[in-house]
Amino acid sequence: TQEKKLTEKRVVITAGPTVEAIDPVRYISNHSSGKMAFALAKAAKKAGAEVEIVSGPVNLADPAGVTVNHVTSAAQMFEQVKLAVKNCDIFIGCAAVADYTPVKVSCQKIKKNDEQMTLELKRNPDILAWVAEQEDRPFVVGFAAESQSLKEFATKKLHKKKLDMICANDISCEGLGFNSDDNQLLLLDKKGNEELLDVASKEVLACKIINQIVARI
Ligand code: C5P
Repeated sequence: TQEKKLTEKRVVITAGPTVEAIDPVRYISNHSSGKMAFALAKAAKKAGAEVEIVSGPVNLADPAGVTVNHVTSAAQMFEQVKLAVKNCDIFIGCAAVADYTPVKVSCQKIKKNDEQMTLELKRNPDILAWVAEQEDRPFVVGFAAESQSLKEFATKKLHKKKLDMICANDISCEGLGFNSDDNQLLLLDKKGNEELLDVASKEVLACKIINQIVARI
């Protein structure tokens, strides 16, 4: 529907992968396309919200009428999110933030010498959990990509990160999820309600997720 259910609401969405530099030519990243996040941004905009995306590198056009902050690393995404979540009503953590980043970034291209080499990594900050810990926080939605025990792991994540809602997808299903156009999601909220959103395009799913959020705020 064209109903403007989110007028005067500010929505911030993280999107895409993050890229963690190893040296001037190499990096650690993942296959996230940003499609789900951008579809959510369009759906939220259509519902009348003021929308801001904080996105890692993606091959997608900035949606019309949406502010897109382009970042590279998890550290940069975190800094942008800290600014963006001020006066925010709904935060959706849809980015595939790299869990680890190199302890040090080499200024020079690393030369190959030995048969084996070890790259030292440190944990990145959990952006979503940080947002959920803030006083006067927005309604917080996370995503969980799991390859096994979908409901169990997603429920744990929902509570551990103090989320209001989590959208879980089973990445063992071929053709769904990461980098694909379709997905299937299990929505869980902190009150124990669950909703299965059957296989559909990310655009259709995005509208359903926004409706589920609207019903809870
Ligand atoms: O713990 P896991 O990475 O599976 O959690 C996924 C959820 O947490 C996603 O919503 C993702 O955007 C968010 N996340 C984050 N910062 C991290 C790791 C995950 O915001 N460093």
